[in-house]
Parts: sequence; C-alpha cells; structure tokens
Amino acid sequence: MEAECVVADDAEELFDASETFKKSALLSSREQYAALYKNSVDDPDGFWSHTASQFFWKSKWEESKAHTENLDVRKGEIRVEWFKGGCTNICYNAVDRHVEAGRGDDVALLWEANDPGFDMKLTYKELLDRVCQLSNYLLAVGIKKGDTVAIYMPMLLELPIAMLACARIGAVHSVVFAGFSAESLAQRILDCKPKVLLTTSGVKRGPKLIKLKEIVDDALNRCVQEGGYSVDYCLTYDNKLAIKREDTPWKEKRDVWWQDVVPNYPTDCPVEWVDAEDPLFLLYTSGSTGKPKGVLHTTGGYMVYTATTFKHAFDYHDGDVYWCTADCGWITGHSYVTYGPLLNKATVLIFEGVPNYPDAGRCWEIVDKYHVTIFYTAPTAIRALMRSGDEPVKRHSRKSLRVLGSVGEPINPSAWRWYFEVVGDSRCPIADTWWQTETGGFMITPLPGCWPLKPGSATLPFFGVQPAVVDENGKELDGECTGFLCMKASWPGIFRSLYGDHARYETTYFAPFKGFYFSGDGCRRDKDGYYWLTGRVDDVINVSGHRIGTAEVESALVAHPLAAEAAVVGIDHEVKGQGIYAFVTLNEGVEYTADLKSSLISTVRCQIGAFAAPDAIHWAPGLPKTRSGKIMRRILRKIASKQLDDLGDISTLADPGVVAQLIEFTDK
Ligand code: WTA
Repeated sequence: MEAECVVADDAEELFDASETFKKSALLSSREQYAALYKNSVDDPDGFWSHTASQFFWKSKWEESKAHTENLDVRKGEIRVEWFKGGCTNICYNAVDRHVEAGRGDDVALLWEANDPGFDMKLTYKELLDRVCQLSNYLLAVGIKKGDTVAIYMPMLLELPIAMLACARIGAVHSVVFAGFSAESLAQRILDCKPKVLLTTSGVKRGPKLIKLKEIVDDALNRCVQEGGYSVDYCLTYDNKLAIKREDTPWKEKRDVWWQDVVPNYPTDCPVEWVDAEDPLFLLYTSGSTGKPKGVLHTTGGYMVYTATTFKHAFDYHDGDVYWCTADCGWITGHSYVTYGPLLNKATVLIFEGVPNYPDAGRCWEIVDKYHVTIFYTAPTAIRALMRSGDEPVKRHSRKSLRVLGSVGEPINPSAWRWYFEVVGDSRCPIADTWWQTETGGFMITPLPGCWPLKPGSATLPFFGVQPAVVDENGKELDGECTGFLCMKASWPGIFRSLYGDHARYETTYFAPFKGFYFSGDGCRRDKDGYYWLTGRVDDVINVSGHRIGTAEVESALVAHPLAAEAAVVGIDHEVKGQGIYAFVTLNEGVEYTADLKSSLISTVRCQIGAFAAPDAIHWAPGLPKTRSGKIMRRILRKIASKQLDDLGDISTLADPGVVAQLIEFTDK
C-alpha cells in the first residue's frame, strides 16, 4: 500500500453558502453541527434511536441498546448490529407510509427516456400499486423471505420498482449493473443463486442499442454449463422504445414477458415485517483479488442511515425535485436514487440516457424541464461536460438548482470550480460526498449551509462517523496528517458481511489496521480538520467512478489464448480520473500487432464489461518481479506515466534487465 499526498492547487480558497441559503437551511452553522455531532458520538444509541423513531417500526428495539459491535479482530469475530429486535420494512417506509399520510398524489418518480420527447411519471400511490403487483408476482412464483432475486436492468422505472418489490416481501435483491458482460453476470448469479432474474429486452444508451436479453441468455447458459445452475424464471420487461419482442431471444417456460403477467396481479400486497438485521440486498464490488465481493447490507440501520444522510447532505426540503445521474446498478443508485430519497418522500428523476446525448446540453435541458432543485453526479461527468465549454450549460436557465453533489472519486479543484461557477452560477453549494459501497451512505460530506467548502475536499464527517487517519503501522495520527483512512466505530449503514465469506470481510477490512474499519483510501487532514481523499491505496482502479480491481482485468486479459501474463496499473486520465494501462506478455513466438491489442481489449469487454476496457496495452517481454515473484507495480506505474527518470530502486528485481526492455517497448 502506498499513501500519497495530493495538495490542491489552492487549498485555502473557501466558499461559504449565501445568507439566503442559510436562512432556509435545515442546519446552518458549524456550532449547530458540532453539538449534534458530539451527541452522535458520545451517545450513539440515543442519537440513532431518536433518529430512527421518525420511521415506522412494527415493534421497537431496546432503546438503551440500539447497537452492539466488535470491530477489533483481536477480540473475536467482527460483528455489527443496529436496532436488532426492531421490526420494520423499508418499502413500507419509503412508499406506503407517505400514501397513508395522505401524500399519495405527490409525484414519486419522474422518468426521462434516452431519446428526448419520451417521459413518464408515477405518484406515490401509483408506485405502491406497481410495487405490490410485482411483489405478488414474486410470491406467486415461490419467492419467500430471505430468497435472492437478481435484477439486471437499465434505468427504467421498473428497476427501483423491482428493488422495492423485493424489499416488501423480505426477498434479498442483487442488482447487477446492466453494463456488465454475460460472464460477469453469470459469475454473480452463480455466487448468490437467485431463483428469479428480472431483466429487459433491450435498451438504448445514447445512439447505441444494447440487446440485454441476448447477454442474459448467454449468462444463463454459462450458469448451466459452468455451475450446473438455472434460474426458474426470467421475467423480461418489454422495452418497446428500444427493441421489438420478435427480435428478442426467448426460451419458453423460463422466460416470461413482464407486461403479460405482472399487471394481472392485485395492487395490494401485505408487507413482510422483518428484523432490522435481516438482509436487504447484496451488491457486488471489486476488490484487490479477482473474485468480486458480495457486499451485504441489512435493513434497519441502512434505512435510517441513507434517509438521514440524504436529508442533511442535500438539505432536502419537501417539494425538492432530485436528480442523481447514477445507475441503480451501483451503490449510489441504491442509496441515493431509490432508498434515501423515497424514504424522505422526495420526487426522484430517473434518467435512462447519458449526459451528452443527443448533445452536451441534455442535463441542463432536463434540469429546466423538471425544475430540478438538487443535482448529484460524478466528477467524470463534470469533466466530460466541461470539455464542451460553457455554452451548452448557459443555453439553459438552471435557476431551479439549489444544491449540487459529487461522488465517486476525488473532484479536482478546477472541475469543482467549473461545476460551482458555471453549472451552479456560484449560487449552489456542492456536497462532495465521500463514501463507499461498504459504508451504505455518506461518511464524509459537507452539510451545505453549515461550514465553508474547499474545492476538492469532502470536508467533515457525518453524524456518528468517527474517522481515524493511521500510519502504516496502524497508529492513529493527530491533527494535520496524511495516512490511511479508517473508522473507529460502527455507524448504522455499515455492511455486515461479504456474502458467504465472513472471513474475507474480516481480513480485507478489519485485519490491516487492528481495531479499525479500513476504507482502502488514502487521505490528508488539514489544519481545519477537513479531509482530502487522495484515492485508493490498494490494487483497485477508479475509472469514471467505477471501482475495478487490477486482478479482475488481469485475469480477463490472460483468458486471451495468446496472452501469457498481464499486469495492470492505473494512470491519470483527463476525463475518467483514472485510466487502465495494461502490460501484457504474450506466449512464446507470438507477434506483436495492433490487431492483437484490439483483440485483447475486446476480451476484457467480453469478460467484464465495456467500462473496464484498457486504455492502453504495453507489450511486456517480461514483467518486473521481486525474487519472490511479486510484480512491482510501483515501477510499472512510473513506466506507464513516462516518469522514467524516477523509477526508484530496481536492484531488488529478480531481473533488472526487464525494465530497459519495457521502456524500449513504449509506444510500440
Ligand atoms: C472513491 C461509490 C473521493 C473512493 C460511492 C472510495 C471518492 C470509492 C468519493 C468507493 C469522493 C467515492 N471523494 N473519493 N467524494 N466518493 N470515492 O464503492 O476511492 O463504488 O473508496 O462507492 O470511490 O467506490 P464505490
């Protein structure tokens, strides 16, 4: 692991919210925050019990004991429980509760299609009806509490509906991002063995048609061949705007058209009351070894945490129209498209398309069309839009915008400033939210209105979050410092395990620094206590905000019949944040050609998905290894970024000669 200190170009520049903003903000001073924060860490049980009581619980947990935890591997098994013994249902709290409070006619979901001109909306009452029908279908095909349901869908309204329908009946959803390949989908299905898969015939993303059902059929065949496993049903939404039914591959009995069956079910369905610690969902994420990890979240703590973080980080008010550009296939879409906002009764915009189609003004056209007040996106999207200049932004009014958000990777100060000045007309605070699939919700984030922002810093910890910056020996550092970002205590949204592999949960997150949860990120804390995240310190690359394990890309590359070995490192990329740079050793006697480079790249697309395709392939007659056979990525990173006079000590290599060879192969 290597920590690095990235100093912002002008770290001391402060941006404070306007007096008008502060006047109506939920919280508007650092003192107010400090008092609440102190209470949240001095008395976590009291603080979170009070917060949780805003939701509906069929029965309560024991108030004085809202949680129990052990985060110290030296003291035995790692275990976290919040609100154990409390009985609730997150779908009930996100949907029924609002309808029962007389707000059924308020708009829950707005949908904007990939192609301008097509849209839809659902009120909370209509959403409830749709969710119930799907829950009834799932019950009818034999899904019970605790069963897993896989969902492989693009951003249609049916995606959040599917998540809520599972939650309603206590089923565990496992959403797989619809940009993953057949191989990746198969791997995830084989890990969690869902009885039912929910999917779509196809989808348009920008100008491209993606035939999702073809990918699904390929994946399901692989599951049979590689693992002897088949799903009982594949419920397929007929996405008429993208592809015709007759052009969709079909397997009778297993495949069922959604629209043919689901609307026939009743629009009421009883809620399954579950324990706060019953599982809500699995979401696979990349780690530093090849096999994706099934991050397991439970119900009660996740519910309370996502709702509370949403409300405060975005200063949510009744009537806000909220748009998060993330896909529900990632954690951001789970916590901040579906659950967090709906638990607050927000109006949520779901966008099927991409930010620059048909042109770079699309986002702002949508903002004006729906009067979006809170807009949440990733630095990579901001940088891509920034390249098209200010005109596509300024062409639209954007006067409805009140709060902006950023997530996925550190935002560079110049992108921050463009976002603030051009998109937000220097009027909207930016919530740069640092968090992870594992944390469930925001951990370090500005609370707009409470304290001045510094471009590039995620600022201060949320209520109940106790960060520790540690050195390589696991010693907690004080004051201004640089090191590894850990957490000292649990918070309600923390994941409880890795599906089927509690030992890996412990060794990955709790063993590196004993007594702490380790995030895998490096960070710096400045004199004002602000946190500056500096990126991953493990073998994970963050490409356009997507986490990709170097080992996953390497194993995809060596699946190519002509590749003998591969080593992958991240390099700086102007738009994506990081790009993927792959060193590949070919089998003896194979010729180096441009065609072979393309073929290697398409192998990765097929094995993982297009978003993981390497940006560059560098031929490697040999790889720099230590005498014990460990690849020295530090050297590869320097070669990839052409810092050739700064290679460091290469004398410990088994064969220092490979370095000169590699340099010779640059640009070949
Ligand atoms: C990175 C996405 C800096 C970080 C929610 C983390 C960030 C990883 C930020 C988690 C941010 C996310 N500033 N870095 N605001 N947000 N990251 O699991 O490296 O897809 O560990 O969750 O993204 O990625 P994940």
